[in-house]
Amino acid sequence: MKRIAVFTSGGDAPGMNTCLRAVVRTALQYNIEIFGIVRAYEGMISGDFIPLEFNSVSNIIQRGGTILKSARCEEFRTVEGRKKAAAQLKRFKIDGVVAIGGDGTFTGAQIFNKEHGIPFIGCPGTIDNDLFGTDNTIGYDTALNTVVEAVDKIRDTADAHDRLFFVEVMGRDAGFIALRTGIAVGADAVLIPENETFVDSLIQRLELGRAHMKTSSIIIVAEGDDGGGAYEVARKVKEKFNHYETKVSVLGHIQRGGSPSAADRVLASIVGKAAVEALLEGRENEMVGVINRKVAFTSFEKAIKHNCEINKELLHLAESLA
Ligand code: F6P
Repeated sequence: MKRIAVFTSGGDAPGMNTCLRAVVRTALQYNIEIFGIVRAYEGMISGDFIPLEFNSVSNIIQRGGTILKSARCEEFRTVEGRKKAAAQLKRFKIDGVVAIGGDGTFTGAQIFNKEHGIPFIGCPGTIDNDLFGTDNTIGYDTALNTVVEAVDKIRDTADAHDRLFFVEVMGRDAGFIALRTGIAVGADAVLIPENETFVDSLIQRLELGRAHMKTSSIIIVAEGDDGGGAYEVARKVKEKFNHYETKVSVLGHIQRGGSPSAADRVLASIVGKAAVEALLEGRENEMVGVINRKVAFTSFEKAIKHNCEINKELLHLAESLA
């Protein structure tokens, strides 16, 4: 390995820059040249490669977003698009690639590797925490803290005005953010895609709260919940339960931004370094994660197959303490 490339892809996540810094500086320590690919697979196809030096990643450890930018690329889904990308990697004499991203990123990397044989190693970068093979993904902890801070503020209004709030958090396919934040903010219920939503039992819970003299309530709804999202569930609940004024708050992309937490910075640094060393050891098609504080490798195949299950006990915990 003389020259490698790195890119960030999919939804940006706090800590991607920290990971990039670790990848670049580790590569340079091993005397490997490193290029950044701008806008992920889009830049791979168009040849938007920039040489990265020690100072290219100075003062980014604390910055949200990604200095390499991110994109979702339709052309890379085609055989022709991937051929163009392979030609660019060859043109720049790239021997291996570190991909910082999530599910879609690793799916693309896996197909590409099968067709063109260029080794890829992945670092789990997504706020959703929906990858198998790591306890946490980069950005997840920061997103949790962002949500908790926001919901604490919403609770002030809920309490002052005796309101029922439905707060929608990110998680198109997974309820990890909803579940953890639901516990952390003391939500009355947590609605997630992994668990069927029954409006009647939700109303029963709210009635129970009223019997305990509650004057306000918070329900956390994952955006991918089968109930149809926060607005839809709120509408259905309101039809049968109108003791409170009901409000909906969709937190949206605020959850993806901001300076990474200490936990995300540490995780990003560990996996960034391990990813470069993995390429040097001849590994390919694997994601580097941290499980029980130890670096762990999982094939892309396993990491992306939605093998990571939600802990239903945590769901019960949230509800039993509410
Ligand atoms: O980063 C993952 C994610 O946060 C999903 O939970 C969400 O559905 C998606 O990104 C939205 O991303 P975008 O607005 O970039 O399409």
